[in-house]
Parts: sequence; structure tokens; C-alpha cells
Amino acid sequence: MSFLYERLAKPILFRFDPERIHDLFIWKGSVIGAIPPARWLLAAVYRYRNPALAQTVAGIRFENPVGLAAGFDKDCRLMHVLPSVGFGFEEVGSITAEAYGGNPRPRLVRLPADQSIIVYYGLKNKGANALRQRIIGKRFGIPVGVSVAKTNKRFKSDKEKLDDWVKGITTLKDCGDYLTINLSCPNTYDAANYCDPRLLEKLLFRIDNEKLRFTKPVFLKLTADLTDAQADAIIEACTPRKWVTGFILSNLVKDRASVKLKSPAAKYEKHSGGLSGKVVQPKALRLVKLFREKAGNRFVLIGCGGIFTAEDAYAYLKNGASLVQLVTGMIYRGPGTIKEINKGLVRLLEKDGYTNVADAIGKGNEQ
Ligand SMILES: Cc1cc2nc3c(=O)[nH]c(=O)nc-3n(C[C@H](O)[C@H](O)[C@H](O)COP(=O)(O)O)c2cc1C
Repeated sequence: MSFLYERLAKPILFRFDPERIHDLFIWKGSVIGAIPPARWLLAAVYRYRNPALAQTVAGIRFENPVGLAAGFDKDCRLMHVLPSVGFGFEEVGSITAEAYGGNPRPRLVRLPADQSIIVYYGLKNKGANALRQRIIGKRFGIPVGVSVAKTNKRFKSDKEKLDDWVKGITTLKDCGDYLTINLSCPNTYDAANYCDPRLLEKLLFRIDNEKLRFTKPVFLKLTADLTDAQADAIIEACTPRKWVTGFILSNLVKDRASVKLKSPAAKYEKHSGGLSGKVVQPKALRLVKLFREKAGNRFVLIGCGGIFTAEDAYAYLKNGASLVQLVTGMIYRGPGTIKEINKGLVRLLEKDGYTNVADAIGKGNEQ
């Protein structure tokens, strides 16, 4: 299936502006999602079920471990269609307390030689109050996580920034099946990176003081560029905080000096933004291993970055991630990728003698 997409559809789609294609897919997905027979037809082609892939993580039942990462469905329009595409879960957003139209265009640039995308959306979304209405109290065919971030605008003080965080989190914390606090958007006005332990401590302290009483699992999404020292500090700060369920490792690469791109410099030099796809993979995988080594099983880990194949997904699971997410793999290889990954995972589990995906998690170092 991916073969057909890569040979037939992609050469046409990749001739057009990436953001227009993204918008087209969102529109098509939301239309199909609203028509049950169209959903069933899609499921007949793309959905793959196997009991070996089903597991309960953080109290939530997942039919398979492959999710759509935050950023594709920013305005919560695909929850109805994604189960038919074969995803085991999705993360909507990132959503911010106030709506934001996004950074100046172009906000997406493809780098095919690197199987990567430069992303410069800057947290474009319709805002927490409007998007809350699309999910609150509803159940979908798969678990839905809600990603929340700080509004992308100029704030006068640190207090205002923390107020905005709390407003977004409070508005969204009872929506969906889990909440993700996105600490690592690389494209904001103030470039505030809440993975910086000093800023993170202020945010965690404020959340503690608000006594938010989270009733759902809460994940923190971290940057791909995290240093060992930052990882240590984050683990230390989060370990005693029972409301922190785990981490998503990771977001985009912001530090371009830390990766070697194959694309000609003229294609990317003049474009700001974080890098997705294959360049994220070694960094995110390293972080999954690091967090598992340093924190044992205290946290649930979700691996994200450069997952294109079953082998990519399996590497994250074997090194300690309970679930995985992707965006760029689907853009480069098409919607059939999800089924291929899930089928391939079953094959890899069988080969290693595991009867369920949960048995393989964190077993990487034993081989
Ligand atoms: C078009 C696009 C938009 C994104 N927007 C967000 C976002 O709003 N919030 C977020 O946490 N991550 C966002 N990301 C990052 C992805 O969720 C993911 O962490 C990253 O792209 C690595 O995964 P991938 O290589 O499978 O794309 C975005 C990525 C892409 C490609």
C-alpha cells in the first residue's frame, strides 16, 4: 500500500504547497469521518487488528501502540476517521488558551532527501474554549490525548505566562483520555523552552499550587535536543509529583547544528522552524533509553520521531517506550503505513517469542 502511495500519489501531492495538502487531508478526513459507510470502507482497507498489539497503559486500553502525534490534527477534526485509518490513538492540538493564526508563511517545508519537514506553524489553533467543545464528554473509537501549550504571543511578565499555562490546562484537563503538556514548541515568540529545568520548576510549582486534581494521565512532551543534565533535572523534579504519568520523547529538533542534513543548504537555510522525521529518530531513541535507565519504570514513555517502519517502532518499544507516535512517516509513506507498522510489529513480536506487545517493552538491553 505504501508502495502505491509513494509511486502514484506522493509525486503529485509533493508538487503542491505542503500546508495546502495538509489542509486538504484534514478536510477530507473530517468529511469521511462524518459518513459512517465511508468510514467502514476505509477501515476495510486500512484497519488491522491483532490481540497481540492490544494492551492497557496508564489505565487506558489501546488496540495497538501506534498513535498520530500532536500537530497534524490541530483543531480536533479527525477523531472520527482515525480509527478507520488503523491508528491505536491520537493526540489532538497543540491547543493554547487563546486562539492563534500561526506564524508567517511558509510554515512547512519538505526536505525529502532527509525524510524530514521544517515545521514553523508556531502553535496555530482555534483556542482552548472553542476546541474543548469538540471533545468534552465525547468518546471516540480510539483513545484521544489532548496536547496543551502556552499561547504564542508576547507576554509582559513570567506571571502572565504561567497564568496562560494554567488557563489552558484548566480548560482542557477533563477532555479526552489523557493530557499532554507540550513543553517544547520550538517556534514561539519568546523561544521559552520549558524543558529548561529552571522554567519547568516554576511551571510545575504553579501547577502544584493550583491543586488541579488531574483525573487523567498527564504526559510532558520534551525537546529532542535535551541534554543529559536537563534529563536528570527533569526526572528529579517529576519523580515525586504523582500527577506526572510520563513523557513523550520527543518533539522536533530545534538545534540544527546538532544534525547533519543531506538536503542542499539553499532548501533550508532561509527557513526557520523545527525539524521532524528521520533526523529526530536517533535523538528521541537515545532519550527513551536514557529515561528508562535513569528512572526505571517510574514513568510511562511514549516514543516519537522518525518512525516510518515496524522496525523503527519496535526499536522504541524494546528500549522502553510503551507506545509510539508519528506524523512525518505518514506524510512520506501514506496512510497505509499504520497498517504496515502494526502488521510488522506482530511479525517482530512472534520472531522474538512474545505473545503481546507489553512483553517486549524495555527488553532491548537483554538481547
Ligand atoms: C506538521 C507538524 C506539526 C507539528 N505540530 C506540533 C504541535 O502542535 N505540538 C506538538 O507537540 N508537536 C508538534 N509536532 C511534532 C510532532 O508531534 C512530533 O513530535 C515530531 O514531528 C516527531 O515525529 P515525526 O518524526 O513522526 O514527525 C508537529 C510536527 C509536524 C510534522
